[in-house]
Amino acid sequence: MPIPASVYQELHLLPSILSADFSRLGEEVTAVMDAGVRVIDFDVMDGHFVPNLTIGPAVLRSLAPVVHERGGLFSVHLMIEEPEKYVEAFVQAGADAVSFHVEAGGHPRRTIAAIKELGAGAGVALNPGTGVFQVRELLPLLDFVLVMTVNPGFGGQQFIASALDKVPVLRAQLPPEVAIEVDGGIGRENIVRVVEAGANWLVAGSAVFGAEDPAAEARALLQQAAEGRAGWQA
Ligand code: DX5
Repeated sequence: MPIPASVYQELHLLPSILSADFSRLGEEVTAVMDAGVRVIDFDVMDGHFVPNLTIGPAVLRSLAPVVHERGGLFSVHLMIEEPEKYVEAFVQAGADAVSFHVEAGGHPRRTIAAIKELGAGAGVALNPGTGVFQVRELLPLLDFVLVMTVNPGFGGQQFIASALDKVPVLRAQLPPEVAIEVDGGIGRENIVRVVEAGANWLVAGSAVFGAEDPAAEARALLQQAAEGRAGWQA
């Protein structure tokens, strides 16, 4: 279903289920949604574009009713080669937004068009080593831009602070209805800094699902981020 335009302008914490207990995914996402989370980050890896292999449309199809019946949304992050081949399968399985890597090659304008024709939100992801200039021509087509602050492939990695420098550059070039998502190494120690840089969709995997109480941690991170955003907008 189309994501309401307001969601791209709001502040959201996107827990990444990559760090969740895969034997209890339904319970894990329900717990964080009960704590105020609305958008779930669904990490797809093919073992080629990144050196890890995760989950596909079948898992999304099983999990989608649990999230959608609570008014939740899925942002599916394709860390795969040839993303254009799999966009339809993920949207039909329940993806509400789909991002893919500009580094994956292919024809990004065609992939963005395919995502939007299917009714999902379209985003392009930038690895830490990829400059904003490499997506400049795509920006007018996007619902969100995903700035990686780790090299994609695994949860629990160290935050690459220099990658955050892209966020204010993107914020200055994008209208407010386009979200800026930051993903990788986000936790209590840096979430305010990420928001103050201009990001409003914040992915956190190990910080949330690695916590003793993921729901409490999600609530605390949302609270911290909201305080940071209030300060940034003031
Ligand atoms: C990394 C994934 C991230 C990761 C985030 O390739 O795209 O979403 O799961 O996990 P943390 O928050 O632990 O860095």
